[in-house]
Amino acid sequence: MKVHLPRKKSSFWALGAASFLFIATTFLVGPVFAADAATGVTNIFKPLSTPAQAIREVSLLVLAICAGIFLVVGGLLAYTVVRFRRRPGDDGREPPQIYGSNQLEFAWTVIPIVTVFVLFLATARTIYDVQGAAPPADALNVTVVGHQWWWEIRYPELGIVTANELHVPVSEPSQRRPTFLKLESVDVAHSFWVPQLAGKTDVIPNRENRMWIEPTQPGTYVGNCAEYCGLQHAHMLLRVIVHPGEEFTKWVAEQKQTSADDPQTRAGRDLFFSTSCINCHTVKGTQAAGTFGPDLTHLMSRETLGAGTAPNTAEKLRAWVRDPQTIKEGCNMPNMQLTDNELDQMVAYLLTLK
Ligand code: CUA
Repeated sequence: MKVHLPRKKSSFWALGAASFLFIATTFLVGPVFAADAATGVTNIFKPLSTPAQAIREVSLLVLAICAGIFLVVGGLLAYTVVRFRRRPGDDGREPPQIYGSNQLEFAWTVIPIVTVFVLFLATARTIYDVQGAAPPADALNVTVVGHQWWWEIRYPELGIVTANELHVPVSEPSQRRPTFLKLESVDVAHSFWVPQLAGKTDVIPNRENRMWIEPTQPGTYVGNCAEYCGLQHAHMLLRVIVHPGEEFTKWVAEQKQTSADDPQTRAGRDLFFSTSCINCHTVKGTQAAGTFGPDLTHLMSRETLGAGTAPNTAEKLRAWVRDPQTIKEGCNMPNMQLTDNELDQMVAYLLTLK
């Protein structure tokens, strides 16, 4: 019978080379390609906002220092392994042993201390720049509240409440318009993260955290909850929509309006107000004033349902109202047990909330 032999030397080398290639492609090559792909996948190496820019700079410094250490240590190791490998005809004696070399011990104490000190200073400076920034008088103030599993977004000065989509103006060199965020949670710890705009900030119950963004290009930036917060943590997505100045003013005006009462969808409207929907949801200008779930006043102005779980189309909305649990299991919205006819009426009404 054949006996399995221990791994051969050649496979040891192959394994080493494979690990090196894996590390190199993951950390060095990967992000470069990802930055060029127009996939909409977000990328910390492609910042488009002031704090994200500062974080990128400090992360490149850290990566460069670590790459230097990796090359020196890896190089010396490779050199030693190859140069002093066992050769045929070796006498098998141990090489001379060195004990208590002051130079060696001094070197491997001082070099790491200096390295860590440089990293500490650079990081502390960036933290100070980001966290110490004072809001200018005309900054936009927004309160973001984390819920299991969606984001409530309030504009206290504008009287607007929405969900899962943070609309902000673009900041231009001639007119800087940063947005300062207050972050709160009503239940468990979440974390607010839009990689191209700013670093992660924890969103913690009974505590108010602050951060700011200053996007310099209009567009839609995707983000997500970055702290495990329960079953649907992965479906707690966030969009930041950055508008050119005038477009933002237009968005604000639209959001301030209340919805028109369309007689064609009266049946659905009456149904909506006769169910417990109104205990959790608000529709501005009506008796629906619940705050437990997302504000629905301008539901159809949003791109997704269930915080990025499904696109916000009539068909998906119907499926969502029929039974949210089939789309986002564990979410706090129950199945309202509506009949097909009631579903049609309810969705017809919800579609008018633009
Ligand atoms: Cu909220 Cu994870």
